[in-house]
Amino acid sequence: MTDASAPMSAWDALRARRSAKTFADRIPPREVLERLIEAATWAPNHRLTEPWRFVVLAGDERARFGAHLAAAMAEAGEPAKAVEKTRAKPLRSPVLVVIAQRGPAANAEVEREDYAAVATATQNLLIAATAEGLATKWSTGGMAEMPEARAFLGLGGHDRIVAYVYLGYPAGDASSWPEAPPTRKPPEVDWRGL
Ligand SMILES: Cc1cc2nc3c(=O)[nH]c(=O)nc-3n(C[C@H](O)[C@H](O)[C@H](O)COP(=O)(O)O)c2cc1C
Repeated sequence: MTDASAPMSAWDALRARRSAKTFADRIPPREVLERLIEAATWAPNHRLTEPWRFVVLAGDERARFGAHLAAAMAEAGEPAKAVEKTRAKPLRSPVLVVIAQRGPAANAEVEREDYAAVATATQNLLIAATAEGLATKWSTGGMAEMPEARAFLGLGGHDRIVAYVYLGYPAGDASSWPEAPPTRKPPEVDWRGL
């Protein structure tokens, strides 16, 4: 992570982004969050369907969300350990940005395109957050599939939760920040004509 006052190049932000495990308690200012959401909406999307929806939870709203999911899981007879883990999840970071794909799409092809667009929007948000000196983590798992999550967030039955983005300032000093980028394997590229 870097000093937010020193703008990062796109390349620096791409390489610096890592999934954070811990966050400081401080909530980033609303105007910063608005910039991140604007960054998300600059993603490419075929047919300009603008299929993204955002729900931003902070403060007590995170605990309310966790409690709502935990109650649904307990009602369904899930093990107490899993119930408590889910209850605590939204509290991992000071802000939880939920990014959803609006549905239903006109057909299967548009549905795929819309999913790709929302995933791209999510990456835009992560990179913009990194450039602002913020830590992020994209998460999905069972919590993204729960109908009770969609209902709490005001999403429809045809909407899909593409990302829970845990977001905040990095915790502690540099030693507690995510490790340096892993080395990448040489990509498989079939070069033709150059
Ligand atoms: C679609 C998607 C879903 C993810 N879901 C989870 C998740 O549920 N839990 C988790 O710990 N990480 C999740 N991640 C984060 C990846 O595990 C992480 O990006 C990967 O370990 C590489 O680490 P890096 O982000 O630091 O480069 C998800 C990432 C993507 C793109």
